[in-house]
Amino acid sequence: MINSNLPFILYGGDYNPDQWSRDVIEEDMKFFKLANINIVTLPVFSWALLQPNEDTYNFDWLDEILDLLKKNNISVCLATSTAVQPAWMSRKYPEMLPVDFDGRRRKFGGRVKFCPNSEKYREFSVKLATKLAERYQNYDNIALWHIGNEYDNYCYCDNCKNKFIEWLKSKYTTLENLNKAWNTNFWGHTLYSWDEVTVPSGLSEMWSGQDKLCTNFQGIALDYNRFMSDSILECYLGEYNVIKKITPNLKITTNLIGGTFKPLDYFKWAEHMDVVSWDNYPFYGDDPSVVAMRHDLIRSLKGGEPFMLMEQSPNQQNWHPYSTVKRPGELRLQSYQTMAHGADSIMYFQMRQSIGCCEKYHGALISHAASENTRIFKDCATIGEELKNLGDSIIDSKFESKVAIIFDWDNWWAVEFSSGPSIELKYVPQIEKYYKAFHKKNIPVDFVRPNDDLSKYDVVVAPVLYMLKENVSDNIKTFVKKGGTFITTFFSGYVDENDCVMLGGYPSELRDLLGLWVEELDALPLEMKNSIKINNSLTGFDNEYECNMLFDLINLEGASPLAVYGSDFYKDRPVITCNNYGEGKAYYIGTNTEDKFIDDLISYLDPDNLLGLDFEIQSGVEITKRVKDNKKLYFVLNHNLDGISIDLKNNLYMNLLTKEKVSNKLFLDSRDVAILEQLN
Ligand code: GLA
Ligand code: ZN
Repeated sequence: MINSNLPFILYGGDYNPDQWSRDVIEEDMKFFKLANINIVTLPVFSWALLQPNEDTYNFDWLDEILDLLKKNNISVCLATSTAVQPAWMSRKYPEMLPVDFDGRRRKFGGRVKFCPNSEKYREFSVKLATKLAERYQNYDNIALWHIGNEYDNYCYCDNCKNKFIEWLKSKYTTLENLNKAWNTNFWGHTLYSWDEVTVPSGLSEMWSGQDKLCTNFQGIALDYNRFMSDSILECYLGEYNVIKKITPNLKITTNLIGGTFKPLDYFKWAEHMDVVSWDNYPFYGDDPSVVAMRHDLIRSLKGGEPFMLMEQSPNQQNWHPYSTVKRPGELRLQSYQTMAHGADSIMYFQMRQSIGCCEKYHGALISHAASENTRIFKDCATIGEELKNLGDSIIDSKFESKVAIIFDWDNWWAVEFSSGPSIELKYVPQIEKYYKAFHKKNIPVDFVRPNDDLSKYDVVVAPVLYMLKENVSDNIKTFVKKGGTFITTFFSGYVDENDCVMLGGYPSELRDLLGLWVEELDALPLEMKNSIKINNSLTGFDNEYECNMLFDLINLEGASPLAVYGSDFYKDRPVITCNNYGEGKAYYIGTNTEDKFIDDLISYLDPDNLLGLDFEIQSGVEITKRVKDNKKLYFVLNHNLDGISIDLKNNLYMNLLTKEKVSNKLFLDSRDVAILEQLN
């Protein structure tokens, strides 16, 4: 539980009373009550107010707000305010300001703009966190701690360079090892002294192009990403450690960005977060599976423990190209979708819409009209009322999946740093493709790291498993040997963790598992399509599907060719294969297929939908299951613009939202939701 004194869904969000006068703040308390708000996050961006100069701290205003919140029965997610260092600090210690990718030292401005390796930043941020923890350790209204805000600050300054060299020394011990790992004899980059290391930036080995960052030296770029992710994590940990010491019983988090956020290895970060939290800002029209996948990834970061939704907008997002307002029912549906995938909080940015600067047109609980009679306020109040009525029935319940998708930040970075095979190849869309196929069938999915224990899953999918780090191939083989089903794709099994190719034919260490080797990988512009023709005698069905982007030229070494190419000079050569290995099977998908093929592949592997939930499948209807004390709780979400009716297959349920028993058929209006507790 996020906090055992608060056994209910946390409902509230970011609150910025430092932008308002006392009378407005008092009015806010009334609004909070009307909307059933039980928690607010603050102070997120108030360092400059809390510390007007190096020797002075001022907590008086915060004391007053915290008192008022307590009196009003609203818990606090206490933020450390360290995402923006004060202007005076940036001026006095300019080395605190980061150097960007193009080598420019920034001036004070924006937010999360500090060098993660700045000693001064770390000293001052830890000091502020310590002071906050000391001052409020006996204030018994803190629900949890919130460190920083959406960390994302890569830096390329000389200080970071020196720290990078230290990081490399501890990783590689000798220059000889480093030269080997980075393959520096390529283009005469051999290093004879540690001081010759340069950070990979727009001034050295990298450039922005092709819609991504490109590099000449993948090994260097990969290590710099790892180092930056670690350095930024150290900023968080500095604060974490002092807070933990002073308030050991409170959980600590930081709000992660966007789920699939490339710069930081969130699996590594989650090891140091007591509860994982994230900010969900979907674009209007996003497929529900895209959002569902991010929730599932976030939940999986910490082995399936309930997570927190730290932020979503109650209405429009000013920073999207179009500030689309939420359609009726959309906010409620989005909120329950979040809980459906494992969240125990629903929180907003922001509680009150500010009057100035770039977020003044961002949605808020209390809009500029400052009225409880707005559409959005009423929607928020309804959700608040419903969550209150759910009490503790949902929180702390768990998710169960028989399918896992391997997701790996190192692999993501490596696939996209790769020069070749295709500018169209992006890691996350390949993951989304497989996720979506399971999602359509209401098959629950977890995400795992390549080295995680896979034994509890029936099916493991590893799209584009380009990089095989140590022990990964053995881990997958153990899983298949014992009866697991493994699916992987083109551009898998090429390199080690330094992006150096493993010789002897792709997919190297996975060759025997897959029963094939790949001789060449053809890449064509997306509009130049091929097809895959299913081999009826092996699969029992006939079909032909489109494919594009990448085309493996496969030599079989024991695998059966489930499908062959329909055209080009490799017409009739195998493209989809299956290999028996131990008690399990390993499938290989040698091209970028149309989605329909993946849908059909899953039906072929699981004809009775045993991997999924025992519900009728309907387009646009998402169903998930959470389990609490042996109680099965099903979230049924109608993403369609029309009403639906679902056959409940002789089961009896209680709809926890309406408190009505349902059997036979469930009717849901457009964008409506049911939470069904199974009674039989
Ligand atoms: C992020 C931040 C918030 C706010 C919102 C606006 O998630 O954490 O401070 O800027 O975006 O959408
Ligand atoms: Zn730096």
